[in-house]
Amino acid sequence: GEGRAVRVLDALSTGLRANLPPGVELIEGDIADPAAVEAAVAGVDGCFHLAAIASVARGVEDWLGTHRANLTGTITLFDEVRRQQRPVPVIYASSAAVYGDCADLPITEAATKRPLSAYGADKYACELHAVVASHVHHVPTVGLRFFNVYGPRQDPRPPYSGVVSIFCERVRRGAAIDIFGDGGQTRDFITVADVVVALRAAQGIAQGAVTARLSPGTPVFPDAPVFNICTGIATSVIELAHTIATLAGVPAEIRHAPPRAGEIRHSVGSPDLARQVLGLTRPEALRDGLRRVLDWLGPPD
Ligand code: UD1
Repeated sequence: GEGRAVRVLDALSTGLRANLPPGVELIEGDIADPAAVEAAVAGVDGCFHLAAIASVARGVEDWLGTHRANLTGTITLFDEVRRQQRPVPVIYASSAAVYGDCADLPITEAATKRPLSAYGADKYACELHAVVASHVHHVPTVGLRFFNVYGPRQDPRPPYSGVVSIFCERVRRGAAIDIFGDGGQTRDFITVADVVVALRAAQGIAQGAVTARLSPGTPVFPDAPVFNICTGIATSVIELAHTIATLAGVPAEIRHAPPRAGEIRHSVGSPDLARQVLGLTRPEALRDGLRRVLDWLGPPD
């Protein structure tokens, strides 16, 4: 929207080419393949790194394969960016999964990091390598710890999709909703539109820091900052199910399935730091976001 050229590197493992607006260059390739990444970063002014296998469940089944995408992929990118010989800011996706089961809610950035999944462990390692990228290789980075991201175009096909897409799709088809456990577990749901705003704000501060570094006397950006990207609002899974059914105008048909092994009970983040530093404002209300997912799915087939 700012008249800049955009190049995308994507393996299209979950995304679709049709989701890209016209005029965007697509390199179909793997984030852990140095040649693909080199081609993707050649000549760019900035980079958003979102490539990952975001499913905690897939990390259980394919520990090493997800590690390759999630950590080796990130290091491959940092390594190629540092070869650019000029400061190219990298804004990368971290995750609330770095915290593990946190007792103090809402979770602040300073909370203890004790990931309980391979995915969370790899994301935490990405943050540690971001410090190296910044400190040793002078690659400016900003990490964004996404909480539960949802919105239109998230593929609702289980088992690796998010709960919002799965529930909306079930309700649309008139099928029953499966809740793992009692449904009292809570999550902090944020729309993809709000995440895009956060990504651009982070790019803005990183770019500002690069400019500041070039002019002596101006304050220097701290090394490799990270921010929670969340709403600060906890919603239980059962409440989510009822809200979606109400919005769709159907009775909620709920079944209880066994709880997911090793699942985090409560996850809600503090958005205060991101609001202060990135200037983020009030996020979209859950009902509005859910309505947009239902609209996108359309009427039952
Ligand atoms: C999500 C992210 C993960 C990230 C984490 C950060 C997705 C797919 N995963 O994991 O990448 O690391 O947040 O905190 O976005 N549930 C049901 N029934 C269903 C599906 C899910 O009851 O059919 C429940 C789950 O048990 C869980 C909640 O809904 O309690 C959310 O599940 P899910 O959307 O898979 O996300 P997280 O596991 O929180």
